Amino acid sequence: MNRASNVHPVRPRSLRAAAARLRRGELVAFPTETVYGLGANALDERAVAKIFATKGRPQDNPVIVHVSDLRMLRRVAATVPAKARTLIRRFWPGPLTIVFPKRANVPDAVTAGLPTVAVRMPDGIARDLVRLAGVPVAAPSANLSGRPSPTTAEHVAEDFPGFFVLDGGPTTHGLESTVVAFDPPRILRQGAVPEEDLKGFLGRKIRRPPRGRDAFGPAAGSGAEPAESPGTKYRHYAPLRPLVLFRRKSALLAYADSHPDALVLCPAWLAPFFAAWRVVPLGETIEEIARNLFSALRTTRPGSELLVLAVPRRGLGRAVMDRLERAASRIV
Ligand code: TXA
Ligand code: MG
Repeated sequence: MNRASNVHPVRPRSLRAAAARLRRGELVAFPTETVYGLGANALDERAVAKIFATKGRPQDNPVIVHVSDLRMLRRVAATVPAKARTLIRRFWPGPLTIVFPKRANVPDAVTAGLPTVAVRMPDGIARDLVRLAGVPVAAPSANLSGRPSPTTAEHVAEDFPGFFVLDGGPTTHGLESTVVAFDPPRILRQGAVPEEDLKGFLGRKIRRPPRGRDAFGPAAGSGAEPAESPGTKYRHYAPLRPLVLFRRKSALLAYADSHPDALVLCPAWLAPFFAAWRVVPLGETIEEIARNLFSALRTTRPGSELLVLAVPRRGLGRAVMDRLERAASRIV
């Protein structure tokens, strides 16, 4: 292990140490298949309060509870509707979060006082950790509030130096879970499970969350519905430099020409348009773009601004666009 940074590669020993910390009411940062989470025992109000204090997270933004099996789900959810059961069979363990009526033993701090609790069963290391801890684990993304979500242990250590982090390498999806609720069935947050995959589970006409900018900032209070998933109303994913999101390639190329100091976050097909030093590569497919996006937003390379081109709003592109719109200081 690396003592100075307190980052521990995932091993049976470090997993047991992490589980013991959770049971003692301490925090642990750990990898999930989506992003790294900052976890605490979900049934321990004081432990959960530490998450909010550490992240600087607004108290009215509830956190997701991670479970390792269906018995643990029953410890936090009062009822499991039949429609939710179908989703569980298809998508758990995996990057889908489902909102249930909560049981009384779930502290208000977890749910921000809502009568519901958002739950997911993660895959792999995260599930092993929750199983070993033996308690449901409340975990938002392990970033300082407002910063891009961490997809590597190094990102977590950047935001929380010296913090206990389980290092499982870069995460698989790179974007947070999709959040759904009943009834009516609806998507509260676009994420790693694309909307198209939920068709047939949530009905034919899927209800979507308000788009990125509608939920906060200039448009807020202008007749837009308040965000139902409270976290979606805050400015998010902010890089250290302004991010400018372009709807059209021609506009991006013209702007980049007149701003030679700006870096460009590029899918592979766009990279040949720019000098190599300006390019922060995002990859070829939308899966790669999703996986690399948050890391690209955290780039420390010198450059005045970050420029990025919109991706088509289908499949994972919806979640990518949601994150870009929230991260952008300007949309052109
Ligand atoms: O992939 C993920 O979901 C990651 C990993 C760590 O599991 N977690 C994550 O948590 O992204 P966080 O806290 O950054 O986002 C939680 C989202 C927020 O948009 C929050 O408003 C929503 O879930 N949420 C939590 N509880 C809710 C509830 N009871 N009703 C509606 N939305 C809820
Ligand atoms: Mg987050």
